Amino acid sequence: MTPRVVVIGGPNLGRLGRREPEIYGRTTWLELESLCRGWARECGLELDFLQSDIEGELVAMIAEAADSADGIILNAAAYTHTSVAIRDAVAAVEIPVVEIHLTNPDARESFRRNNLLADVVTAGIRGFGVEGYRLALLGTRALLGAGRPD
Ligand code: DQA
Repeated sequence: MTPRVVVIGGPNLGRLGRREPEIYGRTTWLELESLCRGWARECGLELDFLQSDIEGELVAMIAEAADSADGIILNAAAYTHTSVAIRDAVAAVEIPVVEIHLTNPDARESFRRNNLLADVVTAGIRGFGVEGYRLALLGTRALLGAGRPD
């Protein structure tokens, strides 16, 4: 069966492309979804692509994915630095969770160095912009032990 991966985006990522483009680039969240759908197809993964600005909704998305998917790619955005609730949701999940950031938070303001997720996720990708999502999909496929669909 084709593994199912859920990409979850946190607050303000819905405004990607218009939001501080000099930092986050000009690709919109919708364009990123379409790129990820193509990359997932190439990797032999089924994809769900979700976004919310609301902490509790993100917790529910993580819990739902734990029951219905094989892996999670999570950009919790600003909640990475603040949310015990999202940390607890990730810690409770048994499927691999790959943390992703478009930028490298460690190379930015000092408050972004506080990361409540780093020690509960399976792996992380940061600083590659939208290309990081392709790497995260490839990495998740490798974590799941799924082969290339030749
Ligand atoms: C981000 C980095 C976070 O520090 C920031 O709050 C975001 C986006 C990134 O993808 O680079 O909203 O997660």
